[in-house]
Amino acid sequence: MQFTKEQVNSYNENGFLFLENYFSKTEIDYIITQIPSLLSEDTPRRILENNGAVRSILAPNTTNKVFQRLLQLSKLVKPSMQLLGSEVYVYQYKINVKAALEGDKWDWHQDFLYWHKEDGMPRSQALSVAIFLQEANDFNGPLLFIPGSHKEGMVDLNVRKKYLNNPLWTATFSADLKYEVDKSFFERLLNKYEIFAAKGAAGSVLFFDSNVFHGSTNNMSAKDRTNILITYNSLENAPPTAKNPRLEFIASLNCNSVISMPDNFLFEDVV
Ligand code: SIN
Ligand code: MN
Repeated sequence: MQFTKEQVNSYNENGFLFLENYFSKTEIDYIITQIPSLLSEDTPRRILENNGAVRSILAPNTTNKVFQRLLQLSKLVKPSMQLLGSEVYVYQYKINVKAALEGDKWDWHQDFLYWHKEDGMPRSQALSVAIFLQEANDFNGPLLFIPGSHKEGMVDLNVRKKYLNNPLWTATFSADLKYEVDKSFFERLLNKYEIFAAKGAAGSVLFFDSNVFHGSTNNMSAKDRTNILITYNSLENAPPTAKNPRLEFIASLNCNSVISMPDNFLFEDVV
């Protein structure tokens, strides 16, 4: 499947494209059956909130076949190739839980700043797809975007003081993100552009540019707001083998082109 010209124009203009009902209820329900076992794995790929709730699971495809097949679905791979203008590989893959009452914020950020600074990704020729496993609403910390902000290019931010002498990679996934929001810069940015809250039913999907500013508040509701985030990078944009690469489950070193499969591949092992 390919996006229409209007969809591509909208993505280029806003830095994201929001598509409701992109996944069916049957698909979402099937993916959700996999979540409890993934959350219960005791692994360094599981990141916790300060209060102990699960915040993220990195690289869920390493232990779960449904998540491996999901990244290959044509409706994700083909539009990503179309928007990036090349073949793609999966650079990063995570589940963000934003647990009921406990899930914390994600500060405003551009993904590319992290991938460039931490991993040496050369250009911003990468995008992420967010797949909503639950409804995102006013109360559970929906993804917020600053439409058009990708046009500012990568904005260099300072490392938050408390991380200056702390090289731990976990700072790049915590509620206090490693690179600090500069208040005066954001005042200018937010006066120039409006905030868009991506609210919608389970099955909604967002394709978003690696330079668009986004974030989310904490979850004040009694239900989780679980999103899957798959980052596709252009095959032409793999970071050079860095001196100090981040762990494989954060920034994949497997730069093989994703082989697109028909969308019913998700259910391959359902009898
Ligand atoms: C992200 O920026 O990676 C995720 C933000 C969110 O889950 O709200
Ligand atoms: Mn992000």
